[in-house]
Amino acid sequence: MNAAIRTIHLTGGEVSIVVALDDRGPRVLHWGKRLAAAEVDWLAATSDPAVTFSSFDAPRHFGLLPVTGDGWSGTPALEWHRAGTAADPALVLNEATAHGHHEDGTATGLTLTLDDERSDVRVGLTLTLDSHGVLSIQTEVTSTATSGDALDLAGVRAVMPLPARATELLDFSGRWTRERAPQRMPVVDGSHRRTTRRGRPGHDAPFLTMVGTQGFGFGSGEVWSAHVAWSGDQDVSVERLPEGAGVHSAAIVAGELLAPGEVRLGPDETYRSPIVIFARAETGIDQVSEALHGYARDLSAHPATPRPLTLNTWEAVYFEHDPARLIALAGVAARVGVERFVLDDGWFVGRPNDRSGLGDWVVDTSKWPAGVEQLADVVHVLGMEFGLWFEPEMVNRDSDLARQHPEWLLGTRDNPAEWRHQLVLDLTLPDVHDYLLERMSAAVTSMGLDYIKWDHNRDLHGAVSRSMGGAPAVHRQTAATYALIDALRERHPELEIESCASGGARVDLGILARTQRVWASDTNDPVERQSIQRWTGVLVPPEVMGSHLGPATAHTTHRTADLEFRLTTALFGHAGIEWDLGGCSEDELALISRWAETYKELRPLLHHGRTVRADSDDPGALLHGVVSHTGDHALFAWVRVSTSSPAFTPRTQFPGLDPSREYTVIAREELGLASRHQVSDPPWMTADQPLKVTGRFLAEVGIPLPLLNPGTALVLEFRASSVTPSDNAKEPRP
Ligand code: DGJ
Repeated sequence: MNAAIRTIHLTGGEVSIVVALDDRGPRVLHWGKRLAAAEVDWLAATSDPAVTFSSFDAPRHFGLLPVTGDGWSGTPALEWHRAGTAADPALVLNEATAHGHHEDGTATGLTLTLDDERSDVRVGLTLTLDSHGVLSIQTEVTSTATSGDALDLAGVRAVMPLPARATELLDFSGRWTRERAPQRMPVVDGSHRRTTRRGRPGHDAPFLTMVGTQGFGFGSGEVWSAHVAWSGDQDVSVERLPEGAGVHSAAIVAGELLAPGEVRLGPDETYRSPIVIFARAETGIDQVSEALHGYARDLSAHPATPRPLTLNTWEAVYFEHDPARLIALAGVAARVGVERFVLDDGWFVGRPNDRSGLGDWVVDTSKWPAGVEQLADVVHVLGMEFGLWFEPEMVNRDSDLARQHPEWLLGTRDNPAEWRHQLVLDLTLPDVHDYLLERMSAAVTSMGLDYIKWDHNRDLHGAVSRSMGGAPAVHRQTAATYALIDALRERHPELEIESCASGGARVDLGILARTQRVWASDTNDPVERQSIQRWTGVLVPPEVMGSHLGPATAHTTHRTADLEFRLTTALFGHAGIEWDLGGCSEDELALISRWAETYKELRPLLHHGRTVRADSDDPGALLHGVVSHTGDHALFAWVRVSTSSPAFTPRTQFPGLDPSREYTVIAREELGLASRHQVSDPPWMTADQPLKVTGRFLAEVGIPLPLLNPGTALVLEFRASSVTPSDNAKEPRP
């Protein structure tokens, strides 16, 4: 036993993190399964690898803040300099405080203070392991020099080690209307590095970086994952070097991407990094997802009230705001059961299309002679909440704002490239903050807004600050957006906000720490949505993931889908409608009303339960569901997005149910019959008595299902014998 090693054992959920503190600084000895006290001692006793050829003379170690001077040749946790000097961070541990002690002596958190006296820098590191087993790491860097050159930060990243058995990597890319497209690859030597330079996470954000054992899936394999809870530029790597990382094999290195000169600290100034979140699982992606949902549901901004069925006017009318038509639409919306009516883009002066008006947040009285208040009042009288669209960070060149305040624009170029005909406002300027806060706040008050859809329709390029001589501005702009949201919600604490960014380009746990919904994508095509929601939903709980019923032919793909499939797809999220209901037949409206009732009946389950997904060898078949935390009740969707190669559906297993409970299996086809590619259903579905089987049977043996036509979904409900419908409503928040 190495007596000089002090260990701190953090526990949360089923996870243990063991940090060693010795004269070489803090090191993570373990990030994985919960350990017994004796195992922690054994870890400490075996924490160093062999000394190999052509290497350091002492065993290599891998710290919590690895830098090249410590022998780590991968991307360092810390990079800085002072006018080209003091470029080797050499930190000495000054203080280590474990906090939140459990009865068994383990802790929930650890705060470390380290000093580099040669560079006059102090680093604070806070590790918090929550009850779901999710680790948050936040790093603070303070320049302690009282004079001389500023401390230029080039990188501040959180680093966690990976074992040799973590051989496969899964992260995401995407584009507009195709967000969260998974990409899987082997972990190889070198760096798989994802840097985002868009001033927002982007449609192609890495989103959640997962590394796992060979073939890991939703229900199997160990997984280690990281997410940067930040809505600006990001820098995430999975790195493996031939010499390993101490006794570990590789590392996840994640943080904010800092541009040269972006953070320059004067005396006593501090940079506080975004929180980097690490989640881990013994049994697959769904376990990671459950932990992350637990984390997200604990955020103070997370909504506590039932998620109102929403209607958004965008695809119904686009920019054609005719009060009579929209008031009529509100009437139909209320009739089918909508609870929140959101007026999208097009309500303010000079906005006949997307070429002008952005920034002038005053109602266009030529479109709205009696003001938007007229619609807001009708909506409220109809018993619905009223929401309004804004895009605060943006401005059209053709707007009074841009004409009056060219100095408010972000960037220094004379002719910056426009994107959707828009430029960006520098939110870090106090005048811009005040202007936006006043305009938005006035609208909230005069219209009684319950909700704002906050859009952000372009990447930020050349995002430097005019007033600071062209200093990089993405960090400050991101923080300024957060400050504006916070200020608005402080004035209007009941106001809810949706984060939208040309669909799902700003979906992260930084924005969800202050908003109540994300718009996952601009596509309402259910085939595309099945994949986007499946993967967005690994991080984002369904109750904050907007998912809308669109028209039969999707505006973004021109693919046509059955109403039943569109309804089922929209059900598994914070449901809404984005369709001109004025053009619907009475039959369609009746079905939508039934769906609205189904959503309201099932949302206590859908919005508080545990999301599960099945692994499948058939790429055209998707099975996903939500199981209540008590295991009493579950709802699954058996989805076919393309034809299957076999001519039948074999037994299909349903994950996540309580193995010991007996369930009644009910096909919920009140949203329309899922169209079949067969003569008749498996006989259990048409028997006089409903099928009753255990959760174990469903998980391990499974049941034959109908062979569906592509573009259909069958909803199956599982009720444990003792549960009654009214029990749903009582389900406690997890
Ligand atoms: C992009 C959003 O993603 C859409 O939902 C819509 O709000 C438009 N912007 C409005 O301009």
